[in-house]
Order: sequence, then C-alpha cells, then structure tokens
Amino acid sequence: MTTKFPNFYLIDHPLIKRDVTVLRQAETSPEIFREAVKRISHIIAMEISKDLRTAEFEIETPLEKTTGYKIIDDVVLVPVLRAGLGMVNGFLEIITDAKVGHIGLQRDETTLKPVEYYYKTPKNIDSAKVILVDPMLATGGSANEALNYLKKRGAKNLIFACLVAAPEGIKKLEANHPEVNIFGAALDRELNSKGYILPGLGDAGDRTFGTL
Ligand code: PRP
Ligand code: URA
Repeated sequence: MTTKFPNFYLIDHPLIKRDVTVLRQAETSPEIFREAVKRISHIIAMEISKDLRTAEFEIETPLEKTTGYKIIDDVVLVPVLRAGLGMVNGFLEIITDAKVGHIGLQRDETTLKPVEYYYKTPKNIDSAKVILVDPMLATGGSANEALNYLKKRGAKNLIFACLVAAPEGIKKLEANHPEVNIFGAALDRELNSKGYILPGLGDAGDRTFGTL
C-alpha cells in the first residue's frame, strides 16, 4: 500500500496486522516474538520477491516436455546486527538461494549515532539485488549508515525491509537514499526523546534475544 512517503510501501495484510500486535504487546515472550517476526518476514519477502526476474528453460514432466522457470537475479540479504538476524530465516525460507552478508551497527545510547563493529558481505554485491533488513527504522541513523557502507562496497540495487518505521527515519532515508524503496509492516507515529518508536515495540534486539 502506498503512503504519504513516496518511497515507503506499507504491507497491508491481515496476518501482518495480527502479528505486529503480538510484537507490540509487552508480555510477549522472546520465543513468541521471534515466531511472529519470522511470519511477518515471510510476507515481506513474498512482496519484495514479486519483482525478481525469471528465465525460461525446458523441463520434462513424467508425461512431456514443458517450460520451467528459474530466478535469474542474485539476491543478497544483509541483516543489521543484532536485531536484523531475527528476520533472516523468514526471508531465506522464501528466497531460498539468497546469500547473506552482515553489518554490525549499534546505536550509541547518548548520541543515538550508529557505530560500526562488523562488516562482511558476499563478493557479488555489486550485481545483486541487496535487501537490507532491520526490524526498526527509528531516527534512520543505522539504516542510513548501513546503506552508505553497502554503496561504498559497490551495491547498486538496494531495498530496505523493516517491521516498524517512524516518519523521522523514512524522511532521512528518502533524503539521503532517494533510489531505495522501503518496505515495512507498520508505520508508527513518532519518536520519544530517547529515539524509541511510539507506540513501537521497545528494543527489538532485546525483545528478540531476551536481553531485557
Ligand atoms: C536498533 C535497531 C536498529 C536501530 C534503529 O538496534 O535494530 O538497528 O536500533 O534505530 P535508528 O533508526 O535510530 O538508528 P540497536 O542499536 O538497539 O542495536 P541491537 O540490534 O544490537 O539491539
Ligand atoms: N531501536 C529499537 O530497537 N526500538 C526503537 O523503538 C528504536 C530503535
């Protein structure tokens, strides 16, 4: 579903609405939280993969020859550590031959600026469709930096997938990375003074890994 933000595509689906509710509820355990993240990731991956290109080839059924299809785009999935890891398995169950890179970024709790602590991506990143995944788009600092790193390493065809987005983060990415489409499961109201999304779901990394 299109929104007032030209690059932000909100995935409007009853199962996503149900599972975002599960994520938001403070009493949800890490186990149930991870399962809901995975189910939402399946639906986002289905939506994003609609654009993948296919090539025809001839196959044989037990009865006759016919046309088969294979995906010809290389896909590289790049989770932002740590919370992005929760979305990886759901994506890989849909886009099964995607490769996976990793970017380690952590928000400095006082400046809210992201600091890089790890980077590793596959070599074909320059020719691949690169899907950056991170559940939260808050100030946009982390996603903005991650996109900068990926572009510096040669990535050209980039998409960002998140679960919950704040207007502040979307505006930042639209200003700095206008060619990058953003897919999200929820568009929230605003940030609080500590950079948390409202109503949000709290700290996605802590909720995923039980480090509260
Ligand atoms: C969270 C989240 C994003 C970032 C979003 O990570 O997973 O990476 O905050 O906030 P921003 O848009 O203001 O940059 P965090 O820094 O808490 O690290 P973690 O995943 O290790 O918990
Ligand atoms: N990071 C999170 O994990 N949650 C927020 O609400 C904002 C940034």
